[in-house]
Amino acid sequence: MLEISSRSQLLQQIQTWQQQGQKLALVPTMGNLHAGHLALVETAQQHADIVIVSIFVNPTQFGADEDFGSYPRTLESDCRQLLSAGCDAVFIPDPEALYPFGSEDFTRVLPPDSLANTLCGRSRPGHFDGVVSVVARLFNLVQPQIAVFGEKDYQQLLIIKRMVADLGMPQQIVSSPTIRESSGLAMSSRNQYLDTATRQQAVKLQQVLQHTARQLDLGHRDMSELERQAALQLRDHGFQTDYFAIRHAADLSRVADHDELKSIRILAAAKLGQTRLIDNIAWSASD
Ligand code: PAJ
Repeated sequence: MLEISSRSQLLQQIQTWQQQGQKLALVPTMGNLHAGHLALVETAQQHADIVIVSIFVNPTQFGADEDFGSYPRTLESDCRQLLSAGCDAVFIPDPEALYPFGSEDFTRVLPPDSLANTLCGRSRPGHFDGVVSVVARLFNLVQPQIAVFGEKDYQQLLIIKRMVADLGMPQQIVSSPTIRESSGLAMSSRNQYLDTATRQQAVKLQQVLQHTARQLDLGHRDMSELERQAALQLRDHGFQTDYFAIRHAADLSRVADHDELKSIRILAAAKLGQTRLIDNIAWSASD
């Protein structure tokens, strides 16, 4: 597996692959890899000849009071896992490779308000600006045909799909389902902030999502009431709820009374102590 950190080394290697007619897939990550990330690598391998994983803890997507400094950095174990997953190259960019003029005053890509200033974007102002700004840079440098993102970060996935469509970028965005622990807890780098007790509490987030899906199955249609009840359940399980939302899966718009309920996403973000967890599930009305 190639380990690449400079812009020039990357460009040289990309050129070689392009001349060989290889199809490239990129899997952008911030490292501290787990089975969720490795599943994206597997999805990428099904779509392309060469899989490149980028590892970069992107400063521009963290708020001033967030965990940029303490975000787990585990490069050695990440590379070991990628090697055994059969990944072709890992791109660990120097900050200058992505932000040649620094990460304070830089060219930004701004996602549309309707997608980026709701749900996670509401409580993390500027977060998705940072995400798309770095993903656009990665796409420009790596020039992959395919890029793979997880449904775990469903809002991020939609925003990236929208960026590619809006800016006429050539990448095909492929999504990969959320990988969970046997308890149902969605795998996340931030789970390691949880101790044994809070890890057991964390499982409830997914259970409340599932409970709401069952309420929808049973025919309950007062979305605000379902959201309110779910938020109360989360509170009873010790969470500070950021949002619990039932939205249209295509664009995260609110579900109005007489809307067709074909493809719905139930999404939540909640804190246990200082640890912010997010999760979401799909729901569709059966015909
Ligand atoms: P990171 O949190 O490292 O996630 C990298 C990719 O892995 C994302 O596409 C995310 O949705 C996916 N992922 C994380 N946990 C997953 C799980 N349990 N199951 C399936 N996929 C999972 O998301 C980011 O990094 C950054 O915002 C990034 C896109 C790299 C831009 O900096």
